[in-house]
Amino acid sequence: MAFLSVSFGVVVVFFLFSTLSIAFPGFSFNWGSDGNGRSVGSFHLTPEFYQYSCPQVNDIVMSVLEQVTAKDPRMAASLLRLHFHDCFVQGCDGSVLLDDSTTIISEKQSNPNRKSIRGFEVINEIKAKLEEVCPLTVSCADILALAARGSTVLSGGPYWELPLGRKDSKTASLNGSNRNIPPPNSTLQNLIQLFNRQGLDEIDLVTLSGSHTIGMARCVTFKQRLYNQNGNNQPDETLERTYYHGLTSVCPKSGGDNIISPLDLASPTKFDNTYFKLIILGKGLLNSDEVLLTGNVGNTMNLVRSYAEDEVLFFNRFAISMVKLGNISPLTGQNGEVRKNCRRVN
Ligand code: HEM
Ligand SMILES: *[C@@H]1O[C@H](CO)[C@@H](O)[C@H](O)[C@H]1NC(C)=O
Ligand SMILES: *[C@@H]1O[C@H](CO)[C@@H](O)[C@H](O)[C@H]1NC(C)=O
Repeated sequence: MAFLSVSFGVVVVFFLFSTLSIAFPGFSFNWGSDGNGRSVGSFHLTPEFYQYSCPQVNDIVMSVLEQVTAKDPRMAASLLRLHFHDCFVQGCDGSVLLDDSTTIISEKQSNPNRKSIRGFEVINEIKAKLEEVCPLTVSCADILALAARGSTVLSGGPYWELPLGRKDSKTASLNGSNRNIPPPNSTLQNLIQLFNRQGLDEIDLVTLSGSHTIGMARCVTFKQRLYNQNGNNQPDETLERTYYHGLTSVCPKSGGDNIISPLDLASPTKFDNTYFKLIILGKGLLNSDEVLLTGNVGNTMNLVRSYAEDEVLFFNRFAISMVKLGNISPLTGQNGEVRKNCRRVN
């Protein structure tokens, strides 16, 4: 079996794996779980997963990303977000990619995703290329994870060793998408709670929010801050004045919901630590960005300050938190499938 010759590390993993499957024949998702159905650790995902079955996988992903982002630099941001919206709903299982069908109620129409999430055609293009070279081998969930890393790197951000081997789900959860993905007007308490639910902590919250160093948001996602932050028809007082005036000129009180503004107005396509510097200046776009500094729970304020001062620290922590994000409840082994087309189950 090719598996055995991969490396000593993998052999050890294989041993553990086979021992456990003898101990629990027909083991499934709950194997090695924490009792909540969440798999503990991720030693069954490994960066070398496609080393023999599809060695070109990352090159193919990167060549599509290079072409696409050259034409549309925002696409890097959109793909990074797509992985996040996948992982927060049933784990990183490609569920976000499924279309409506007789058995599926798609997540694409959820509150956080409707008129907002983008990049599906890029994932489909990557998948089509991969099906030509290594058919039925690379999961859509892994393509999302690879595209998120590649997009970060192409935008000037950090690289990380990416554990692979996720399988794709046969289900989606519209309800999960509505309930698990934080809304932009969340309080800090609420953000921490929604991250904790995924096994992510306060550090992951602040660090991964740093993704908002690239990309855009629609007027409807920050309008409350401009016109009625606390039900008193007043703006959010933490907004810096000239920034606030600029925003009101592109985001009117009524209408204009889909007009977009940069999350990081200083460098919207460059992955850097400017996002944190802007928050300190009162120029963070979303309420969920601002409250990391002013929300007054835990240690998030100090993390924002540290990242604003030290980009290397931010990059290192970002790599770590992205691996944690990508390890949320993967389907592995016999669970799930490798979809032939990311938009539908086989
Ligand atoms: C902490 C809670 C978070 C909230 C409340 C939040 C909310 C939002 C909202 C409202 C938008 C704009 C969507 C639109 O107007 O169409 C957005 C964009 C974005 N989010 Fe988040 N987000 C959060 C965390 C994250 C995380 C963890 C990541 C990635 C790991 C991420 C990556 C992005 C990116 C890259 C964009 C820009 C997308 C584009 O331009 O297409 N966000 N987010
Ligand atoms: C909806 O999703 C939430 C959060 O994932 C879950 O607790 C709840 O049981 C779900 N409700 C239904 C009806 O599926
Ligand atoms: C967030 O916005 C929603 C929808 O507009 C609203 O129902 C909710 O009360 C808001 N939450 C907060 C904390 O302002």
